[in-house]
Amino acid sequence: MIGGTGFEVGGEPSLIDTPYGRLMAAATELCGREVLFIPRHGEAHLPPHRVNYRALLWAARASGAVRVVSTNTVGSMAWHPVGSLVIPTDFVDFTKSRPSTFFEEEAVHVDLTAPYCPEVRRALAAGAEAAGALVSDGIYVCTEGPHLESPAQIRMLRQFGDVVGMTGYPEVVLARELELCYASICIVTNPAAGMRKDSMSAAEIRTEMAISARLLREVIEAAITM
Ligand code: HPA
Repeated sequence: MIGGTGFEVGGEPSLIDTPYGRLMAAATELCGREVLFIPRHGEAHLPPHRVNYRALLWAARASGAVRVVSTNTVGSMAWHPVGSLVIPTDFVDFTKSRPSTFFEEEAVHVDLTAPYCPEVRRALAAGAEAAGALVSDGIYVCTEGPHLESPAQIRMLRQFGDVVGMTGYPEVVLARELELCYASICIVTNPAAGMRKDSMSAAEIRTEMAISARLLREVIEAAITM
């Protein structure tokens, strides 16, 4: 599991060395299953544009992971209520400066017809239903951040997808490159910029995240046992 902001499962932390650097992860058990939990932002809480995405996926693969569940927070560019969940079916990338491939030297063109693993997506959807969550499919748009978008940017990005976040790419592509079954479950923490007259404060967004983290854990526990 790659855990985003506000989401943790505990476990004994250990350091994992990768060709892309060292990171912290925790091997733990969730519902009788062996799980490696990797906090995306690390101990230093790196901002989204500085996260070492290659090290995250490499560590997962090297530790023997076959399936990866990633949690991401998003703003809604459509109708999704705050606190609801979105399971991306596809993505559009608007990032600018992130290393986004393991294949720097060879021309390897990984197929992205199904960027997110249908099997893990199905388990997450069933888990969300079991937990009584409001959940939908959607297209994930990834921006560079770390600032939020302007209303004009959101009017443009709305043409491309349903939710906007800063951490879903290049994770999804790197997972495909390593042939990991990867899917994401996104928590809607706010309406995207300009989608609501009164914008949400950072404190409001944090409160929403804490509430959603509990729900997300239930969903993932249910999904793991499917
Ligand atoms: N934009 C980008 N990333 C986000 C947002 C947003 O509105 N909310 C949570 N992550």
